[in-house]
Amino acid sequence: LRHLLSLDGLPAPILTALLERADALRGHARGGTALRRSFAGRTLCTLFFEASTRTRSSFQLAATRLGMDVLGFDASTSSTKKGETALDTLRTLEAMGVDVFVIRHADDGAVAALAAAAAPGTRVINAGDGRNAHPTQGLLDMLTLRRAKGPDFSRLTVVIAGDVKHSRVARSDLHALRALGCGEIRVCGPANLLPGPDVLQGCRVFADFDEAVAGADAVMMLRLQRERMEEGLVPSLEGYFRDYGLDARRLALAKPDAIVMHPGPMNRGVEIAGDVADGPQSRVLEQVGNGVAVRMAVIEALLGD
Ligand code: CP
Repeated sequence: LRHLLSLDGLPAPILTALLERADALRGHARGGTALRRSFAGRTLCTLFFEASTRTRSSFQLAATRLGMDVLGFDASTSSTKKGETALDTLRTLEAMGVDVFVIRHADDGAVAALAAAAAPGTRVINAGDGRNAHPTQGLLDMLTLRRAKGPDFSRLTVVIAGDVKHSRVARSDLHALRALGCGEIRVCGPANLLPGPDVLQGCRVFADFDEAVAGADAVMMLRLQRERMEEGLVPSLEGYFRDYGLDARRLALAKPDAIVMHPGPMNRGVEIAGDVADGPQSRVLEQVGNGVAVRMAVIEALLGD
């Protein structure tokens, strides 16, 4: 791998190798010392043109755990405010010796375009572009599923629910679930928040959330991404929670050992009830922790020989 821009097209053996390495790195992700100098002298820059808590912080921690220098970049106080383009920004930071860029951008395809224009030795990791892809979130979601349910995805029924249309997380999860041979992928949401058939390939689509959750092994909830919605698409929040919110009654329809996932940030009372988000079946904070290990594994894969 030179860049990680999408999970689309990544075969199961590569995904599995990344997940197994991430699983092995989980102890180090919590501050172990054995790996601290692995990439000493290399520099990673988090080049975020959109807000983030989890992805930016966990990449910074992951790089630090591998002994790298870490350069933060805050678009709101940068020279992009004076009209500098994203590409000139990247080239400027490349000239300072950045080896790996972790880039988030509001536009679909923007990260791939920057990767294509980067210097030959530069590595680029997509930290989310528009509604297109968020590959490390997809990987950390797969690691969380695998740790809860084992490596055989063919036995699993996984539900992805909510604003699938605007979700880069859903697209990356769908690529990974299909590649790993998930038994049944169910997608549920209001008709105007579902993507086209190209995205939903191989999925069972449900309008009724109770039916979608029935007998599931995992329920992955998505936030309403109002920042990416056209005017008039935002549903009434009260009606949305009634029809598409995950509450305790609905969760009881899934298998007794079903897990609840959410990439964050959560909007409690909109797509997920607070008691479910904090309940015994929730893996939301484990997802966050797994994110550090997954990002260490990805950085290793890009910088390793
Ligand atoms: N899941 C996720 O991408 O969260 P952040 O927007 O906080 O990085």
